[in-house]
Amino acid sequence: MNKLADELNTTLSSTVIIDLLSDFGTRIYWPKLGILAQAADAKGKDINATIGIALDEDGSPMRLDFIQELIDLPPKDVFPYAPGFGKPELRSKWKGFLIEKNPGLKHKSFSMPVVTHALTHGLSLCGDLLINQGDEIIVPSPYWGNYNLIFSERKGAKVLTFPLFDNNKFNLRGLDNMLSADGEKKIIVLNFPNNPTGYTPTIEEADQIVNVIRKNAEHKKIAAIIDDAYFGLVYEEGILKESLFTKLCDLHENVLAVKVDGPTKEDYVWGFRVGFISFGLKGASDSVYDAMIQKLGGAIRSEISNCSHPSQSLLLKAYENQDYWKAKSEKFNILKRRYKEIKVISEGIGLDSGYRPFPFNSGYFMCLKLNSADAENVRQKLLKNYSTGIISIGKDIIRVAFSATPTNQIKDLFDNISDAVIDCNEQNSQKQ
Ligand SMILES: Cc1ncc(COP(=O)(O)O)c(C=O)c1O
Repeated sequence: MNKLADELNTTLSSTVIIDLLSDFGTRIYWPKLGILAQAADAKGKDINATIGIALDEDGSPMRLDFIQELIDLPPKDVFPYAPGFGKPELRSKWKGFLIEKNPGLKHKSFSMPVVTHALTHGLSLCGDLLINQGDEIIVPSPYWGNYNLIFSERKGAKVLTFPLFDNNKFNLRGLDNMLSADGEKKIIVLNFPNNPTGYTPTIEEADQIVNVIRKNAEHKKIAAIIDDAYFGLVYEEGILKESLFTKLCDLHENVLAVKVDGPTKEDYVWGFRVGFISFGLKGASDSVYDAMIQKLGGAIRSEISNCSHPSQSLLLKAYENQDYWKAKSEKFNILKRRYKEIKVISEGIGLDSGYRPFPFNSGYFMCLKLNSADAENVRQKLLKNYSTGIISIGKDIIRVAFSATPTNQIKDLFDNISDAVIDCNEQNSQKQ
């Protein structure tokens, strides 16, 4: 084992983290005396012949002028590599935002966020640090299909599912059964607002989820990965508005909470590829958080080296803009308007409609569960006869992204779905 990894593991050895780390997570470390660190030492010196970028004769980053003209940012914030853990000002800003958006975090201790190449990368890094080939991870179903590629195919984990809903409420018993099953180490991924259902637990359900995790933590070591991709997009009262991380970050000495989040959906910048990972563990000291940050930094360095600098600088500039919150809430209101319109339509869905909506109250999506029509047939019919695209999930669920449907198309969208389901059902009965 590398000496630096050894030092980090010694720091972590008094916590549950040491038992939760994967083999890679145990081996990885931040090369403290590596090129990046040595270059950071030389920052501001008269002569700096360290880092592997090119400087122009005036000492500024070498660049092609016409590229610079495309971006209204100082060259130093665009062309050089970003720091390995992300731009420090952006990390502090995001930490401040987390507390602002989750007032429950105000007096709690959690790590400084580390910048990732958006949330998919963040989830994959969680897999690097926590999952060994053959480990099980628990996910309520339905879930974002990319978890299969990230956790099963890439990390070799077994994705164990339980139904998200029990009688149209969060399936607490399912969660409890999964966590209390054999095995000392449990890794769970929770994503609310949920992709694909658009569901977020009520405040009461969220408390019950936390209670179930706390109860199981008496006997198990739990890593709770909180995928907050759609954080903030909650359209109803009484629904959990803060991240589950708020309650989990200091829940129990046996629960490591990992918050994976970022501006991808929160700030409508899907192509920027910036995200964050933050850690929370009851009783963890700053040096424990620092050790985890260093391991995460090593995982990033070993894979993509560092994340996009222009994207981080653009976001930082946006977050300092006085109109930021106002502009953000205008976009939120557009999504909320669409949600409300669909809510009215969904309340009119009768027993004879051939489908019913899953509960939804947040996010980008809602799902319809088909009674007998095949989801893929409905999708094909919608494409061919109604010029309409939706996503089919498994045999009997279709996902509707109202995030991508202008308000004036929503009624037509649902009329088309109804007609396509009727067509499929008629076809079925003719075949029988
Ligand atoms: C639940 C969920 N998590 C994570 C992501 C990934 O987000 P990013 O585009 O930031 O990688 C998505 C994107 O669709 C998602 O739906």
